[in-house]
Amino acid sequence: MSEIPRAAAALRAGELVAFPTETVYGLGADATNPAAVAMIFAAKGRPADHPLIVHLPGTSHLERWAAEIPDSAYRLAAAFWPGPLTLILKRQPTVIDLITGAQATVGLRVPTHPLALQLLNEFGGGVAAPSANRFGHVSPTTADHVRDELGSAVNMVLDGGPCDVGIESTILDLSSTTPRILRPGMLDAARLGEVLGEVPLLGANAGAPRVSGSLESHYAPTTPLRLVAEPEFDAALRDALRQGLSVVAMAPRASAASHPKLFWQTSSTDPTRYAHDLYASLRRFDSMQRDLILIAAPPVDETWCAVNDRLRRAAAEAK
Ligand code: TXA
Ligand code: MG
Repeated sequence: MSEIPRAAAALRAGELVAFPTETVYGLGADATNPAAVAMIFAAKGRPADHPLIVHLPGTSHLERWAAEIPDSAYRLAAAFWPGPLTLILKRQPTVIDLITGAQATVGLRVPTHPLALQLLNEFGGGVAAPSANRFGHVSPTTADHVRDELGSAVNMVLDGGPCDVGIESTILDLSSTTPRILRPGMLDAARLGEVLGEVPLLGANAGAPRVSGSLESHYAPTTPLRLVAEPEFDAALRDALRQGLSVVAMAPRASAASHPKLFWQTSSTDPTRYAHDLYASLRRFDSMQRDLILIAAPPVDETWCAVNDRLRRAAAEAK
């Protein structure tokens, strides 16, 4: 049997299959099988009340999972699916509580990576898939990252090469009257706004559904990470080296200093490229086992919103 039918058969048998999406690798299970979905939580070490995104083969599957679907959802699906957008909609009563975190909503998306679409079409239904990392850690953007993180906990890893986008999908909540971005992604508020007719607000309100990515310390590498504004960057680096720390420094320019305890990484000035490289870079920096990762904070503007969000969370752990 070739790989895709074998992976679909594994899903049908209640096994876990990791697969590439355009954003990050997902850890998939049949979204209608409670025992299989429970294995996702065990493999990730993820708290049971954190809801999962259901990945669909196409927009035609929407009504099986969501109820009272607003017209805006269809317009967004037509514009951006398959693609890096997750819609939060009112759930169908049949959706299992493990998927929704026992909330009244469900997160849905149609990914665009060819292997993901082939798998979903062959399987013919919804696949629950969080990022294929241990809970709270950096999301995987290659098949090797998945194997490093989850090892034997996953039955099968489909290898689709490095992920294009590199950070997780934009999560847009359409379950109440005001559209809200619960997690920024590379598909930004301005582009969503063009289709919605209003620019969605950023951030959850008090009554909004839970998003595990909204925990401050999410997406963290193991090495302490500090984000430093550009004007203070060189001084912060000098200070750290003077204290005897071994440092990985990343800024969008050539190294200002050369020092035996310094590894310098020049970052991209383009947010799309930066996002593409970010998690792989953080993993590489972690593997160097330095005392500190020092990163120059990117510009504060809309195009850098999702990257800044992930960097801020990665740094939160170290404060
Ligand atoms: O790009 C992505 O979205 C990747 C790929 C694999 O598709 N998936 C991903 O899944 O990032 P995960 O589980 O790591 O993050 C999904 C986020 C979580 O923070 C979860 O809380 C939120 O989506 N979520 C899922 N269903 C939800 C719901 N009904 N209401 C609010 N948030 C929800
Ligand atoms: Mg995740």
